[in-house]
Amino acid sequence: MSFPLWPWTASAYAHQVDILLLFLWLLAAALSVPVVVALGAFALRYRAGLEVNREHRPSRNITLEVSWALIPFLLTLVFFTWAAKLYFEANRPPPGALEISVLARQWMWKFQHPGGQREINELHVPVNRPVKFTMISEDVIHSLYFPALRIKQDVLPARYTTLWFDADVPGTYKLLCAEFCGTSHSEMGGQIIVMEPADYERWLERTPSDLSLAARGANLFRSLGCSGCHVRSEAVDAPPLWGVFGGPVPLSSGQVIVADEGYIRDSILLPKKAVVAGYRPIMPTFEGRVSEEQLIQLIAYIKSLANDEGYPQ
Ligand code: CUA
Repeated sequence: MSFPLWPWTASAYAHQVDILLLFLWLLAAALSVPVVVALGAFALRYRAGLEVNREHRPSRNITLEVSWALIPFLLTLVFFTWAAKLYFEANRPPPGALEISVLARQWMWKFQHPGGQREINELHVPVNRPVKFTMISEDVIHSLYFPALRIKQDVLPARYTTLWFDADVPGTYKLLCAEFCGTSHSEMGGQIIVMEPADYERWLERTPSDLSLAARGANLFRSLGCSGCHVRSEAVDAPPLWGVFGGPVPLSSGQVIVADEGYIRDSILLPKKAVVAGYRPIMPTFEGRVSEEQLIQLIAYIKSLANDEGYPQ
């Protein structure tokens, strides 16, 4: 039976986290070992019954006092900057990443590929390609954790959070829920399968999917009646949605915000929250009428219109 001392490492980022952790451990050892050694040595040297000079008059050495406070402080600041750099890296997905949507619920993980392929508690991804998750929970707070990638992010109800990675070693690794979310929390896990790009393509073809996420969103866009107002209409004046995603949106409040997933979600559920400049707040809310899954599809559709100049029929 093998007993690995170090967890599996499946990305360059994971290696960087390991190095940071190793140095942090070394610093902690460098700062605490001398204290423990001195403690032991003095306990032995001055133990009861031993005849030693116990007369220690107080003396001051400012240089020594300042240096033992300042040097560890500066050393720990190095780690603060180092860790902050990694933290920002982990939170800034590169453009062009493969976008996977994640739905968490008691007690399962549901993953959806842009082509519409769905998986539960299992995720297939290509190696050496950035993968970005947009995640939301249908009930309580969960946390998606990939030990081999050294990444973890809370998955919240009513708000999208993101996570990204670029795995560089093909293989099968664990995925876990890292937030106590109820009775079966410990069973809320599965695996991530990192594949060679050609194998991933074959897997996509093998896995049934009638429609892509964006196409399902387009169907909803029509069946829910969104197209009645948001496609050029004589009767109702609603902001067109072509070329909107990812760009700045001027609001009637004078603010300008970026049209990301969260903004689109809010606009559907809380249409009065951020009204586009020049439009009246007349859109009804779709709260309770669309599921989280449908919201993901609608957002995928609006995303697909980002670079589209024309209006569909
Ligand atoms: Cu979901 Cu713990």
